[in-house]
Parts: sequence; structure tokens; C-alpha cells
Amino acid sequence: MLLKSFLPLIAAATAAPAPAALEARATGSLTSWLASESPVALQGVLNNIGAAGSKVAGAKSGIVVASPSKSNPDYFYTWTRDAALVFKMLVDEFLAGKTSLETQIQDYISSQAALQGVSNPSGGLCSGGLAEPKYNVDLSAFTGAWGRPQRDGPALRATAMIAYARYLISKGQTSTVNSIIWPIVQNDLSYVTQYWNQTGFDLWEEVNSASFFTTGVQYRALVEGSALASQLGTSCSHCNSQAPLLLCFLQSYWTGSYVRSNTGGGRSGKDANSILTSIHLFDQAATCDSNTFQPCSDKALANHKVVTDSFRSIYSINSGFAAGVGVAVGRYPEDVYYNGNPWYLATFAAAEQLYDAVYQWKKIGSLSITSTSLAFFKDVYPSAAVGTYASSTSTFTSITDAVLKYADSYMSNAQKYTPTDGSLAEQYLRSNGNPTSATDLTWSYAAFLTAFNARANVMPASWGASSAKLPSVCSSGSASGPCSSATNTAWPSRTSSPSSTTTSGGSCATPTLTTVTFNERRTTTFGQTVYIVGSIPQLGNWDANSAKALSATRYTNSDPLWFVSLGLPAGTTFKYKYLIKGSDGNIVSWESDPDRSYTVPANCAGIASKSDTWR
Ligand SMILES: *[C@@H]1O[C@H](CO)[C@@H](O)[C@H](O)[C@H]1NC(C)=O
Repeated sequence: MLLKSFLPLIAAATAAPAPAALEARATGSLTSWLASESPVALQGVLNNIGAAGSKVAGAKSGIVVASPSKSNPDYFYTWTRDAALVFKMLVDEFLAGKTSLETQIQDYISSQAALQGVSNPSGGLCSGGLAEPKYNVDLSAFTGAWGRPQRDGPALRATAMIAYARYLISKGQTSTVNSIIWPIVQNDLSYVTQYWNQTGFDLWEEVNSASFFTTGVQYRALVEGSALASQLGTSCSHCNSQAPLLLCFLQSYWTGSYVRSNTGGGRSGKDANSILTSIHLFDQAATCDSNTFQPCSDKALANHKVVTDSFRSIYSINSGFAAGVGVAVGRYPEDVYYNGNPWYLATFAAAEQLYDAVYQWKKIGSLSITSTSLAFFKDVYPSAAVGTYASSTSTFTSITDAVLKYADSYMSNAQKYTPTDGSLAEQYLRSNGNPTSATDLTWSYAAFLTAFNARANVMPASWGASSAKLPSVCSSGSASGPCSSATNTAWPSRTSSPSSTTTSGGSCATPTLTTVTFNERRTTTFGQTVYIVGSIPQLGNWDANSAKALSATRYTNSDPLWFVSLGLPAGTTFKYKYLIKGSDGNIVSWESDPDRSYTVPANCAGIASKSDTWR
């Protein structure tokens, strides 16, 4: 999002408010702020979704409004990109246990079936119209001048819908996927395969060229689209023919020391675009593959340093920070929109990439420093040296701890500039950190939540990044696929809760470890903590002193959720129970007999969840 580049740019820049007195800010420790901010952020998202959202009267059902702000700037529209990123986050929240979100997910999908059919200045359904960047919130076309087309939208929408489609298939609801979701996804995939090799406007709606974010998200959509087609007993031959070409093209954005995010635009190309791409391409089942710019890959880490460093000297609120301490991050250093400021979503993304990276190293069991990534590591661990460090070594522990601390310092930076009510605008002023530009930006809230989940190791399902096969020679390309209007929105009755289900991500090698999220609902009093203990070493071999603590960061009065995510050997069956300890560490109570039993699923996504209620 969110333009204003051409015409409104000058007006917007002069309309930027003069720095006011410092506003009241969030205080306290990072963990206490995260705990209080997460329900605020989720509510902030829901407030901006029609028809029930409290801040977006007039928006149709399932429509995500970018911000309630109707002037200076006017963001009261629905962007295909923002809406898809927001709903990908909500689908992941749903899969992690927020079962009440299913209605909104289905409404979103229904709304997109209608939106695909709206003819607009970019074209009609099967003639380029899917890349129209934004629409009026009543689903009518926006016909004013704008930076169009934007070719990332259809890809991001396909990815969001595929995440929910995989869940439905795991629940035996393949026919719903076939009749409602696949027709929409198929149109988006056909759009991508036909147009990926043509220029378009970037995610900031300013540069008309090829863009790293667009190419990256398109590649992911084709890989997932192809896997979904197989699951549905069909195939996407145009996805299969084009995906390797996109992967090849993706490599060309690498300069040798960082990612040049746009092929045009006349800038350095240092841009949060590339960090957002890395976290979008994150795959918990992948290695630190630099071809897909995995967050832990040497290229992505080198790029993280170059991009975030580019903001250190230009924002006065960043002055005085040492290397290795997170700063306020903007879109790109040359930015002049609202005079060019840090964006909450960019600062959260800088943290999220690092949480993802640490998760990957721990899962893989080692960490490698190459000459490409050495400078990144030296900032957080000055004695870093090129080499590979197994997770059993103290160097591994020291470095991963340092990277986590570095990630937290980006979250703390955003915390420092968040008002006490937790509201997240689009930007915070480079001069004094006061919020500016659009209020209650939906994407800001979503970016907080994805970073928050990554910090808690609640990771999205695998999308098949490890299937990447890089052709030796790149070539240009285009392939057409089926396109027809998707009109069926007759959802069967809601599926049952996703508790005790597994999610899977197409064909892949089954990992040996599955990350299982245990969700236990139990009302507790202040100072109490819920633990899990069981018959396997990872659960303390029934020793209550070695029980694993659950987290209360998602706990609310209406939903007393405690959770923990643990890597467990796939296929293992074990017994377990929850218990509660007081603040003194003594056991307050045990669940009643019998013991619970669980078998760790062996699925290709490497992720599963189990929902329990105290007994
Ligand atoms: C099309 O693909 C070729 C081969 O990768 C690449 O050189 C060219 O820059 C691409 N153009 C656009 C606009 O994507």
C-alpha cells in the first residue's frame, strides 16, 4: 500500500502535521506490552472489516478497509494486497485456535469472488482486471487516477485462500474447496502466469517496474497453487511451467550485497520491500535456502543489515543507537511521502525476519555464518566468524540469544512510539516518533500480530519452499490458464473447530520434528501459570519440575487461552496432563485422571495443534 505517489504527493507532504508535543506512550516491559497489545491489534483488524467492523460503516461483508481515515490521507478503500495479507494472518490465527474467525474468512472469500468480477480501469476478470490495486468499500470500481496495475494482489489473495483450503481438505471438505475456493484461486493463478513478466507498480504504488516483492509472492502462489491442484486431483500446468522462471528471475534482484527491490525508480533499491518478501517466503520446513531468501539465509540477513542501517542516520529518533540495537525502520531511505518516516509495519517486519531465522536455526540444529552474512552477525556478536555452529555449542546459544535480543529491540522501538491505547497508525514521525498519516492502519496491526506469533514460535504452515529448483538459465515467459467467473459462495455449515487437527502443505518430505501447539483453556488467577508434563523427555518424563510452562500472551477474560509450541518427534505417542503452579513455583492443582494421550502427526507441514480444556 498505500500510495499517494504522484498527484497527492506534494499535497500530502505539505499537509504533514507539524511535530506536536510528545504523545503519551506505551511503557513497561516488552513482554507486558506485547501481552496487552496483541488483543488490541486483533480487535484493530476486526474493527476495519465489513460489515460488522465498528470503524468502517458502509463496507460490505468480508471487505478489509485499509484504514478508517477518510482524509489526509483518504485510505477508505479496500486494497487487494492489504486485504490478502490481513486475511493470511487471520487464517493463521484461526488455524492456531481462534476458531471464531471462520465466519470472517468465509465472508472474505465470498467478497473476493464478487470483486474478481468487477470491471475496472485495469480490465475485466479475464483481461487484466485482477491487478486493479483498490476498490471502493461497496465493491464498486475506483475509477480515479492511480498507480495501476499492481500484480502482487492476485498472488497474495491466492496464498491467503490456499491456507484455508488446505485446512478444509484436512477436514474432509474437499468438495467445498473445489466448488467455492478453487475457481477464485484458479483465476488468480492464471493472472500470475500470464502477466508476471510485465512491469507493474510496486507495493508502495510508486515505481512502475519489476519488483522483488511482486516476483517473490507470485512465485510462492504458483508453488502452492500447483500443490493445491494436485490435492484436488487436477493440475496447474501453467503454474509448473512458469514457477521456475519466476524463481530464476527472483535471483536477479540480488546485487551481491543486498536486494535491489525495484528494477526501476532510480533509487538505491534498499527497501523494506525485501524484508517483507523474506518473511512472506518464510517456510518453517525449509533450510536457510538463499534462492527463496529464507529469513535465515545469508543473503536475507546481509540484506536485513543494509536495509535497516539505511535508516540509522536519516531519522533523528534513531540517533545514538549502537549497531546491533534495533531502530525505527521506514519503507526506503529516499522516501518523501509525509516527509519520509518510519512505518510500524516495517519495524515489525525487521523483528519478524529475525524471529523466523532463529526458529529455523533451532529446527535445523545448526547455524552457518558465511562471508555474505558475517557483517550482520558481527553487529550482534562481535567475535562472530565464518563457520557452522551446531545447536549443542555455546556459540550457537550465544548467537541465537543475541539475535533474539536484537529482534526484540525492534519491537521495543515500535512499543516506544505506540500510544497508550495501543492504536497503530501507518507511520511515526522521524523527528519525535509521534504517530502520523493514516490512523488505525489495518496492515500495521496485522504486521504486529505476525511478528508477535513468530516471537512465540507460532508459525504458519509450510508452503513448499524446499521444492525450489533453480533453472540454470533464466528466460522470459508467459502462459495462459483457465479463467471464468467464480460465483458459488454457498458455504456449507461451518466446519467444526480446528482443535486436534493437523494442517498440511502439499507434497514434501515429512520432517522428523513436528511443531505442536498445545492450547489449554483454563481460567487462572494472577500469579498462576499453566504447565504441561508428560511421558516423553520433551515433556519432562512426568517430572513436574521439568514441566513446560504455557504462555498467557493470548489470554483474555472471554477466552482464557494458555499455549505453548514444542518441537516433538513425529509419530511418537505419549501421555500428558496439565497442571498449575503458583507464583512460588509450588503445584496448585493437577488435572483429574485419566492421563491425556496424543500421537504427534507426521505431516509435511511439520505443524499441528491440539486444543484442550482443563478437566
Ligand atoms: C522478464 O524475465 C526476464 C528473464 O528473467 C528478465 O530478464 C526480465 O527483466 C523480466 N521482465 C519483467 C518486466 O519481469
